[in-house]
Amino acid sequence: MSASVIDGVAVSKVVREKLAGQVAALTAQGRPPGLAVVIVGDNPASKVYVRNKVKACGEIGMHSVLIEYPADASQAEVLARVAALNADPAIHGILVQLPLPAHFDAQHVLESIAPEKDVDGFHVANAGALATGLPGFWPCTPHGVMVMLDHYQLPIAGREAVVIGRSNIVGKPQALMLLARDATVTICTSKTRDLASHTRRADILVVATGRPKMVGGDMVKPGAVVIDVGINRLPDGKLCGDVDYDSAKQVAGWITPVPGGVGPMTITMLLANTVKAAGG
Ligand code: GUN
Repeated sequence: MSASVIDGVAVSKVVREKLAGQVAALTAQGRPPGLAVVIVGDNPASKVYVRNKVKACGEIGMHSVLIEYPADASQAEVLARVAALNADPAIHGILVQLPLPAHFDAQHVLESIAPEKDVDGFHVANAGALATGLPGFWPCTPHGVMVMLDHYQLPIAGREAVVIGRSNIVGKPQALMLLARDATVTICTSKTRDLASHTRRADILVVATGRPKMVGGDMVKPGAVVIDVGINRLPDGKLCGDVDYDSAKQVAGWITPVPGGVGPMTITMLLANTVKAAGG
């Protein structure tokens, strides 16, 4: 058996076409949505990510500004800029790219973003809203996973869902989103004993560990939905996920490739959150 592919590029295209229509409508009403992307330092991966975010805004006709600071910028000057963006009516979404340099208190900077402009969903107010089932902004990557599951009409309620990883960006919010849809959720960490005994029970397996190919086909339940959040660069320059795609594909029912799976959905949901922040 070979799993069906969950195509993040195709799902993104469908969602982005709808968003482009909403952007056009908001713009016609005199409320063009705007996103501000703040980056500090010159982490090469972060620079690629923010460039892609700004480019994606342009592709759906959305206004964006890229604000770049050198690695030795002070936290005070970044906080002052965030405060100005909070007060700027042309800006509906603010994103501060992580990681920040070591002399920053990243959580403090994230908490300085007005929750109603926090399109990353990292502010404690939005994290709390997700945890309690109140409206708010959801972190983009796990939200994108939910949109993909729904696009392919893969059932969630009552299913065993196992999430490997408990970061605030992916694992924890992913578990909460699956729980809100009545999955039976297990969160595994690097300290989990006998990881395979958990993963082999999973009808939905989400892997967000940052460890290349750590989940092989022998750890996958036959027919399971396997979602690979990892993006790792191998010594030969190729990209791979946290799942060993070739072996897992033989066992799973559905699987996301890397690249072309979860990755495109992260930016798509950032666009969606910004349109929502602008009233779309
Ligand atoms: N760094 C890695 N992923 C993300 C993300 O989704 N948002 C931000 N702001 N920084 C990140």
